[in-house]
Amino acid sequence: QRSTLFPYTTLFRSVGKIDELEKALGQMPDGNLCIGHTRWATHGGVTQENAHPHLSCDGKISLVHNGIVENWRELRSGLDDHNFLSETDTEVLVHLIEKNYHGDLRLAVAEALRQVRGTYGIAVVHADHPDELVTARFGSPIVIGVAQEEYFVASDATPLLPYTNQVVFLNDGELVLLKRKGMEMTTLGLDHLKIETQNLDWSLSQAEKNGHEHFMKKEIFEEPEALMNAISGRIDLKNGTARLGGLNLSESEMRQIRRVIFIGCGTALYAARVGKYAFERLAQIPTEVEIASEFRYMDPIIDEHTLVFALSQSGETADTLAAMREAKRRGAIVRGIVNTIGSTIAREAGGGTYIHAGPELAVASTKAFINMAAVAVLYALMFGRNRSLSMATGVRVVTALMELPEKIKKILAESEHIQSVADKYAHYHNMYFLGRGVNYATALEASLKLKEVSYIHSEAYPGGEMKHGPIALLSTDFPVFAIATRNQLFDKTVSNIAEARARKAPIIALVSEDEKDFTAADDVIFVPRTMELFEPILNTVATQLFAYYVAVKLGRDVDRPRNLAKSVTVE
Ligand code: G6P
Repeated sequence: QRSTLFPYTTLFRSVGKIDELEKALGQMPDGNLCIGHTRWATHGGVTQENAHPHLSCDGKISLVHNGIVENWRELRSGLDDHNFLSETDTEVLVHLIEKNYHGDLRLAVAEALRQVRGTYGIAVVHADHPDELVTARFGSPIVIGVAQEEYFVASDATPLLPYTNQVVFLNDGELVLLKRKGMEMTTLGLDHLKIETQNLDWSLSQAEKNGHEHFMKKEIFEEPEALMNAISGRIDLKNGTARLGGLNLSESEMRQIRRVIFIGCGTALYAARVGKYAFERLAQIPTEVEIASEFRYMDPIIDEHTLVFALSQSGETADTLAAMREAKRRGAIVRGIVNTIGSTIAREAGGGTYIHAGPELAVASTKAFINMAAVAVLYALMFGRNRSLSMATGVRVVTALMELPEKIKKILAESEHIQSVADKYAHYHNMYFLGRGVNYATALEASLKLKEVSYIHSEAYPGGEMKHGPIALLSTDFPVFAIATRNQLFDKTVSNIAEARARKAPIIALVSEDEKDFTAADDVIFVPRTMELFEPILNTVATQLFAYYVAVKLGRDVDRPRNLAKSVTVE
């Protein structure tokens, strides 16, 4: 609600979604400077008092903060004479700035930040300096959009696209004073730094819905083109290999790699699983997939012969970034497989590949999965050909990859049928996704997508694991979605379906298009055949559509599901 506590500042805060804030705002108040933040609660409850911005005692300084102040207790003990109104770690920052303020806002912010331990991306304004905004970064991303007589400060470049594609990415320890005319970048010690503006190679139309009801649907329908963008110029059909310049390793250095580790979170983590199968199958290099938030605190065995790939759509995920830094510190060779150009992971990895999916705005990641998986396979192919993979197999892989965009189009053309299946299953409260081999990755991603956008409880299991517990839950009101495309484990999967059916579970099966007489399921979704390695790519298009239509049927906020964020820049 609008606050009248602070005479100098018009303050609006609300709990929940942005729509709530819009309602509270009504008409946008007049002004030339505004800060706001959707905060994902870390300290204190989800309340209006804990929502950002936070204000100083005199109400003149306002601040929004992304990140966590680790030494807030210690700092707060030195601020006894200040009046705290929230339970957040952030509020300490604004009071610390107030304590250090003697007429120069930038100086006060720099002084305060020098005492802070933790992570921050902040924006600060002062009522006595109506033409100034100070922003700074340590550990949480800050990107400044430079438009005509306007500046924007954000934690992710994508939302800036409707306004500008000229952006300045801040590095840790950098502080920027934005003024009505121009900006100055310094260190926290206020040494001046050179500003480098980058051009984001994304167009505004890519950031619009273009006739689709939701960004998620639009982004799924962009997959054929997005995948083309990921592979074009990177494949060598004649030699059955890939060319990824960003690897920055010579052929002999490539041969020194003895282990590959993929790190990521959420959808990126499941795309990484496709990379694992590909690396082991094509390049015969032992490969692991690690959850970034776990990896950063483990004792991973890493040496200079270990190649670590950090996968991230946003390039800003805090856990992935921290895991990547840890891998580097331990001597691994680190490379990024990233969508957002110029993002922190892209900058800090010693090289890597952009997946060129274009901007992804729906919170649930779709086209980035397809492209991350494809690029991971390209790397595996390149390593394979650098070792013992035959040219003939390499050519088969490249050929199969080149056929994928057209095959994805065929799945998209089936969207009405997928919608009818989704409508039929939308009322269930639980669902299992079964997939074996490479399709365990498909099942994991399918289950995540359904959870994210529909809020239906779901879990993914490799079919063979069902009998060790999960099968106990099956009944008429607990459906099973089986990934049963024709591959070496097809017969095993069909047996798993039969086991589930015997427990009266309703069954949906994803089946290769030439299995027209498949009768083992109640509902069938057909997908084109491809090489086993690429099945997760095609099959996931169908499961994304399924999740999407279930969410639509249930009337969910598809593009902005509750409790989730597009880029998770806090630990
Ligand atoms: C968040 C998003 C997910 C995404 C994950 C990893 O949880 O909601 O959709 O998969 O972060 O994000 P990244 O940008 O690193 O791929």
